[in-house]
Amino acid sequence: MSAPILVTGGTGTLGRLVTPLLREAGHPVRVLSRRGGQTASGIEHVTADLLTGDRVDAAVRGTDIVLHLAGGQKGDDQATRNLVRAARRGGVRHLVYISVIGADRVPLAWLRTKLDAERAIAESDLPWTTLRAAQFHDLVLTVTEKMAKLPVIPVPGGLRFQPVDAHDVAARLVDLALGEPAGLVPDLAGSTVYGMDELIRGYLRAVGKRRLLLPVRLPGKAGRAYRNGDNLTLDGADTGARSWETFLAERFATRRA
Ligand SMILES: NC(=O)c1ccc[n+]([C@@H]2O[C@H](COP(=O)([O-])OP(=O)(O)OC[C@H]3O[C@@H](n4cnc5c(N)ncnc54)[C@H](OP(=O)(O)O)[C@@H]3O)[C@@H](O)[C@H]2O)c1
Repeated sequence: MSAPILVTGGTGTLGRLVTPLLREAGHPVRVLSRRGGQTASGIEHVTADLLTGDRVDAAVRGTDIVLHLAGGQKGDDQATRNLVRAARRGGVRHLVYISVIGADRVPLAWLRTKLDAERAIAESDLPWTTLRAAQFHDLVLTVTEKMAKLPVIPVPGGLRFQPVDAHDVAARLVDLALGEPAGLVPDLAGSTVYGMDELIRGYLRAVGKRRLLLPVRLPGKAGRAYRNGDNLTLDGADTGARSWETFLAERFATRRA
């Protein structure tokens, strides 16, 4: 039996799509999270906290490949430094990390933690691969659902996204994890750039709602960076196959039937 592949955050939106692909490719999987999950054939769950470092050494022990997908609003830099230390002690041979497009350009605190996490990996002596992805459809849906609860939706002008499907990101990460360490690889984004208004209108159409949209201006340096498109990769990105429209159609198929 080969060594298990460790998937941190394997119970999250992205991680839940990565683990079955690793199983289909014939690899045993160990999932690290704080709350754990249901053990299934070939999938072992371990609980550890990457932010405190608690039980991380034990979770890493006996693995050669680590896919680091655990993340949150705060502390991804600290969590990643703890993982890197454990991975070095455990003799990991390939650490794969998922970051966000614009981590190096958009001045937001949580993106700064993603960039610091990238650096902690790149500056370690571990063989590594980092993929920066655009926002997942699931995240865009969560945001648009919240906005659509308002009778009038404020829409920041000039805010654009190129959302990507988490299935496409999962497939790319599995290919990367099973390949040779490749450093920073081309970004992965959706094939279409949408204004925030277009994303909201697509959602409203899919669920059969009508709302007024009110253009507003995003203030500050971050607003300028977004208007400038610093969160986008317009040239040289790999593109996912599944579109925002397909995602919405599938998600809301039963509602419209
Ligand atoms: N969502 C997007 O649009 C997007 C776009 C590009 C990149 N990314 C990156 O992709 C990664 C996964 O995103 P996601 O949307 O799948 O996240 P998610 O659904 O919120 O899942 C987060 C996962 O990380 C685990 N986790 C969080 N904090 C932890 C800690 N301190 N120690 C151990 N495990 C911890 C969670 O389990 P427990 O809560 O049980 O610990 C869960 O399994 C993140 O690094 C994110 O920055 C996301």
